[in-house]
Amino acid sequence: MQITLAPMEGVMDHQMRQLLTAIGGYDLCITEFIRVVDMQLPAKVYRRHSPELYNDSKTASGTPVRIQLLGQNPQCLAENAHQAISIGSDGIDLNFGCPAKTVNKNKGGAVLLKSPEALYQIVTEVRKAVPVFQTLSVKIRLGYEDKSLAIENAQAIQAAGADELAVHARTKAEGYRPPAHWHWIAKIKDAITIPVTANGDIFSVDDAKRCMEITGCERLMIGRGALATPNLAQAIKGIESPNSWPEILNILEKYMFVQTHGDQEKYLPSRIKQWLIFIKAQHPQAAVFLQQVRTIKTTQEMLAAINQEQLRFK
Ligand SMILES: Cc1cc2nc3c(=O)[nH]c(=O)nc-3n(C[C@H](O)[C@H](O)[C@H](O)COP(=O)(O)O)c2cc1C
Repeated sequence: MQITLAPMEGVMDHQMRQLLTAIGGYDLCITEFIRVVDMQLPAKVYRRHSPELYNDSKTASGTPVRIQLLGQNPQCLAENAHQAISIGSDGIDLNFGCPAKTVNKNKGGAVLLKSPEALYQIVTEVRKAVPVFQTLSVKIRLGYEDKSLAIENAQAIQAAGADELAVHARTKAEGYRPPAHWHWIAKIKDAITIPVTANGDIFSVDDAKRCMEITGCERLMIGRGALATPNLAQAIKGIESPNSWPEILNILEKYMFVQTHGDQEKYLPSRIKQWLIFIKAQHPQAAVFLQQVRTIKTTQEMLAAINQEQLRFK
């Protein structure tokens, strides 16, 4: 079994990757997307998104990190892929699933799923720039408005030379509305020979088991579930029991001491609140706690609130 930590723009930054991979169970991380429009981005942009490039493209605990590119121009994506590889990225991931309006208006992201031909051209060009010994992976949704091109898209991506395909089992139109249509991943897997990674709505060990049964996939990608239950990958691999709320509080406390570049005072309390939104989807106590800390603006107050909540379980 292989478990990938999903890319999540504005949430799964290098600090979160470091924390979650240190907890364990993840075999690979994909970075938040880097938007490629019409020029080769300087190396510093890549290093800012992925400081892991300074560490052989691995998190501190040794999990490989792959840069994700989002764009629509084949040549430009290829140049940027070449650049990212040359400064050390562990392979390249292409994002064809982004639902953001501005990205899709400019013909990037999920809108490309309307054209298997466009996907083919992009992957072909990027493949030429990514050496064969480096992995070129692609991430898609099931379609834009409907699923009619799901299989054709996957086949085009394979034919163009991608090594792996991750599928978020929803269309762009379905947004994040449950359920994820895992049986569609099975159809895609049957239609291609490269490894397929199943993604979407894996929040528990039971979800992971059902997803693997339905899709036939040995590879899973987890995003929101990893934030809600930080040791979910370890739990899926049968190594630990899923984190309880008191355990999650200890992890939140640890996060309060991470190094940040900018304004630590503002940054950490707002990140904790953002994180709690994902946690409360699986742990009702987090909803109550979020209410309590809603107005907190300083690191000191947030830490005190976490410590106070921890006391309830001592
Ligand atoms: C806040 C947020 C940001 C995301 N950013 C990205 C991104 O940068 N690149 C990408 O390919 N997918 C992105 N996604 C999609 C996730 O990688 C994933 O496909 C989706 O959340 C479904 O998986 P999950 O149910 O395990 O969360 C994002 C999702 C969320 C909720």
